[in-house]
Amino acid sequence: MRTRPLKVALLGCGVVGSEVARIMTTHADDLAARIGAPVELAGIAVRRPDRVREGVPAELVTTDATALVKRGDIDVVVEVIGGIEPARTLITTAFEHGASVVSANKALVAQDGAALHAAAEEQGADLYYEAAVAGAIPLVRPLRESLVGDKVNRVLGIVNGTTNFILDRMDSSGAGYSEALDEATALGYAEADPTADVEGFDAAAKAAILAGIAFHTRVRLDDVHREGLTEVTAADIASAKRMGCTVKLLAICERAADGLSVTARVHPAMIPLSHPLASVREAYNAVFVEADAAGQLMFYGPGAGGSPTASAVLGDLVAACRNKLNGGRGPGESAYTRLPVGPMGEVVTRYHISLDVADKPGVLAQVATVFAEHGVSIDTVRQTGKDGHGAATGVSADGGGGASLVVVTHRASDAALSATVETLRQLDTVRGVASIMRVEGE
Ligand code: HSE
Repeated sequence: MRTRPLKVALLGCGVVGSEVARIMTTHADDLAARIGAPVELAGIAVRRPDRVREGVPAELVTTDATALVKRGDIDVVVEVIGGIEPARTLITTAFEHGASVVSANKALVAQDGAALHAAAEEQGADLYYEAAVAGAIPLVRPLRESLVGDKVNRVLGIVNGTTNFILDRMDSSGAGYSEALDEATALGYAEADPTADVEGFDAAAKAAILAGIAFHTRVRLDDVHREGLTEVTAADIASAKRMGCTVKLLAICERAADGLSVTARVHPAMIPLSHPLASVREAYNAVFVEADAAGQLMFYGPGAGGSPTASAVLGDLVAACRNKLNGGRGPGESAYTRLPVGPMGEVVTRYHISLDVADKPGVLAQVATVFAEHGVSIDTVRQTGKDGHGAATGVSADGGGGASLVVVTHRASDAALSATVETLRQLDTVRGVASIMRVEGE
């Protein structure tokens, strides 16, 4: 074994960084044996040294991250700061000074992955980011290496623990969105500003990364269609239950049927209770990968938190150190297919549409005609009176009582469904479109 240690600079020492530092110290001998050389934590850059956690070696702490990555003797920089800047500049500087980089930064990789990979390649360095997607769950490496000989057609999963916790609570207790969010905040799952999670930005960044790797193309955050879960109501969850489904915030990356484009999207969707993703509870993550030869694979585990994320970081760190020692680098970006990312309108799936309609002769036929005119085939229709028991409730200005009409379609394009709903909204007898939700996983 080489005795001269490989030197590591740690940028950020919060929940994840402090766990990385702890494991590097407590598992130093095992890590050295697995790499073939000792690994030394050479410096830890933080913004607030007064907040550094117990157990983190104080003598290594600095507020000058730039000077740390410019030292010239750093072999691997571990970036767990998050956000775009200063992380991007520090990573670029690290490459310029000969270091490989391990990052947990999904936002940065989703936005600037191509440029960062190019910078790494130019310097003969590695850029690894297993921790950016689904915490401890190995996904980036399996897609990039284990499945690289196969043809991946679909990646479908729950990649945000906070929103899964909220939806799970809504499903199990009948709580509304705000109540479930309050519980997630109180338990530390949701941040004080939950926007990135509940509006789907976090999941969209992960979808962009997964789609790019799975389909060997470039998918940026802006290419991902994104809908959060703030509009999901207790009524939607109850409606899903009546259909034998539950609601999950899904990230779905697909190769188009003709193979000429890909799509990536994040939105709430109903999935059947029989689907394995339906049993993913609390803040866990799970991802389905469908490939030509492998068939269906499922990856499951904790998608967030200090220790799980640190586990993924350490795996990358060992890989980067091994490559350094061997004088080479691991696989870089593979975006040779250059497949374009198609618009949401091209996505084909099933839909659950809940309408408030007048309850009078001909309404059902009128609604069905609109679906037919747009080429959207209806699978099931269920009508209930507004009291929920099939009884009409009074006569309104348009001459009929009110009813709820729930239409579930066969597979149709998003464009056809949008046009259908637009026309339905024009009908006098349609008083409102209460909700539209996609149905996946069948
Ligand atoms: N906030 C994310 C989640 C974890 O709730 O899953 C970090 O990506």
